[in-house]
Amino acid sequence: MTARKIAVVGLGLIGGSLGLALKQAKGDELEIIGFARRPETASEAVRRGVVDGTEAQLARAVSRADVVVIATPVLTIKDILRDIAGHLSPNSIVTDTGSTKVQIMKWAREYLPSTVSFVGGHPMTGKETTGLEEAEPGLFQDCVYCLTQESDQEASRAIQEIVEWVGARPLFISAEEHDELVAGISHLPILLSSALVSVLARSPLWPQMAKLAATGYRDSTRLASGSPELNYGICSTNQRAIIAWIDRYIEELNEYRHLVLEGEQELEKSFLKTREMRQRWLENVGRRFKKNLPMDSRESRVPSQETRVGGGLMTLDSRLADSKVEQRVTRVRTLKGEIIPPGDKSISHRALILNSIARGRAEISNFLPAADCLSTLSCLRALGVKIELHGNEVLIEGVAGKGFSRPKDALDAGNSGTTMRLLAGLLAAQPFVSVITGDASLRSRPMDRIIQPLNLMGADIRGGEQNTRAPLIIREGMLQGIHYRLPVASAQVKSSILLAALFAAGDTIIEEPAPSRDHTERMLQAMGANVRTEGSNIILSPPSRLSPLDTQIPGDISSAAFWLVAGAIHNDARIRILGTGTNPTRSGIIEVLQSMGARVKIENERWEENEPVADLLIESSSLNGTAIGGDLIPRVLDEIPAIAVAASVAGGTTVIRDARELRVKEADRIRATVLELSKLGANIEELPDGMIIHGVAQLRGGRCHSHGDHRLAMALGIAGLIAEGETTISDAEVVDISYPQFWEDMARLSV
Ligand code: S3P
Repeated sequence: MTARKIAVVGLGLIGGSLGLALKQAKGDELEIIGFARRPETASEAVRRGVVDGTEAQLARAVSRADVVVIATPVLTIKDILRDIAGHLSPNSIVTDTGSTKVQIMKWAREYLPSTVSFVGGHPMTGKETTGLEEAEPGLFQDCVYCLTQESDQEASRAIQEIVEWVGARPLFISAEEHDELVAGISHLPILLSSALVSVLARSPLWPQMAKLAATGYRDSTRLASGSPELNYGICSTNQRAIIAWIDRYIEELNEYRHLVLEGEQELEKSFLKTREMRQRWLENVGRRFKKNLPMDSRESRVPSQETRVGGGLMTLDSRLADSKVEQRVTRVRTLKGEIIPPGDKSISHRALILNSIARGRAEISNFLPAADCLSTLSCLRALGVKIELHGNEVLIEGVAGKGFSRPKDALDAGNSGTTMRLLAGLLAAQPFVSVITGDASLRSRPMDRIIQPLNLMGADIRGGEQNTRAPLIIREGMLQGIHYRLPVASAQVKSSILLAALFAAGDTIIEEPAPSRDHTERMLQAMGANVRTEGSNIILSPPSRLSPLDTQIPGDISSAAFWLVAGAIHNDARIRILGTGTNPTRSGIIEVLQSMGARVKIENERWEENEPVADLLIESSSLNGTAIGGDLIPRVLDEIPAIAVAASVAGGTTVIRDARELRVKEADRIRATVLELSKLGANIEELPDGMIIHGVAQLRGGRCHSHGDHRLAMALGIAGLIAEGETTISDAEVVDISYPQFWEDMARLSV
């Protein structure tokens, strides 16, 4: 059916604009009958040519029409449906323009006779001002016009036609989904706008503030000038969805509060991301709205986050895809310069955790404020520990042993295995119940490796999936020292047990199958604990107290590893990496690269407190394949994705074995590395416990994915520096987990 006679009920901004647009599009082909409660509005509508005629009685207005459009505030739609129900002609169609749909569909089902079809409609356009005087024929031009997809097909087609006549773009959507989405993008902003007006206006400072308030205030409070009747109707018919968005918004605002309070650099990143996201919206979806968004059309263009470096051979371009960052890397002519790697992640976690149980205040310098360590920081804060973070400097006030307070909520370890496993050891002895959880990746990683030994010590820890996965519920236990042989060489498990052992009765002996990183032992010793290593045994006798330890955290060799590999594989590279930790339980990467023929020099060796530190110089090298396995594995485990890149372009074959542990890292690092490097032309095979890599002469660019794994994202990034053509890494913002400045450092080194 094609509409010929349309009744428009309500001649305000929307009804009036609809009449004007229809008349403009169809002229005399259509008869438009208007109805307005106020006679002055009706006569004004006729005068402006919005309608061909009006009726004083609602019943008469609708009785002659084949389509009735109800363009009134949401709450009045109910009464109108009830009032017109008995007067509609059979086979006519009723539609509306209300901002919520589920409730209106219910009313339509309740009141309208079965001979009449109802198609819910909602044009995604408008102004904060209302009334016929604001009506304009172009109001619907290019706007999305939602139509309920559960309505009768033939009726929907007729309404779709009308929508297209006025220049809008019909979008069929379920009423339910419409309300959920519109609650976020349309209803929540009304409330935010109004809340902002009221919070400021209630302040005694408002009279002075009002004099200063200018464009920022005007733009962010625009919606508070909307019709109270309309807005009230919206909120009362979409409560559930609106409340859900308010809750999410409060959480977000709290997050911002925290970032502001801490003066964290994260805040700047957050602004950068939100600016990019909005800009993308403006450029894509928003373009068609520009004429209706006067503020936006005047807004200055936000420069795209594209960094062109050096001779123009390399472009680093981060772009947001569905709020995920895509990083593009192309080959560079030269890699040169100095790098100060970020603070060591493992040591940063431990400096916080161990100082949190010391008696007194400690200062930590060169702390790594990346996502993983910030998870530890916020869990400790939730346990009542006072921590100040200023850039890379931390001030922490230890609670002396068991002085934590019960956390009000579940502790969130985010993506960080170290946070969860170490804190579990600490919490096992605390006199309260706690729950610790994490993101989807962390919840899929094995936790039985700590639950079992800790429970053997007398802890009471339960986990999901038969006590193997987080979330973990930890109740107070009476801990006893144990003699435990670690089934895998894992510093996280070792440290978890050592932390529990601090609160246990009697000595604890941990036997390691191979040496894993020993930062916990070194730091505990420096804090006065009686912990010693005898062969493969680590023995701890519980101390009476721990002294706080001021710490200068060395640069992270696991982050430096990417530059070591990048320098070695690039044919014109010279990179000096300053202040890198060279603890022998971590420095396997240097040995591996040396065994492959890399030109690595260790310079300026020194000690920073209890950890060895050096500057590393790497120059372009000609690499050969190598074999990596056995006791070396725990000392290079985190560096294997980077080593795989080196092996991909080395002469001959590299075999990596005994590295099954890689399968339970942030991603299955064996599978993900093999899959992604193959996309770049590497000749690489998966083994159950490692990989075999036959070197190729040249990698080629391609599209690859980080699998949500920070180390894989960075490994793919350095592969992109030597690959022919462009390499795109999706989900590349994941580098924030351990090395937030990674892409910037890459741009700096590239000439
Ligand atoms: C870490 C130990 C290692 C390592 C991780 C950090 C630590 O894990 O892979 O990135 O800080 O103790 P495992 O101990 O589980 O091997």
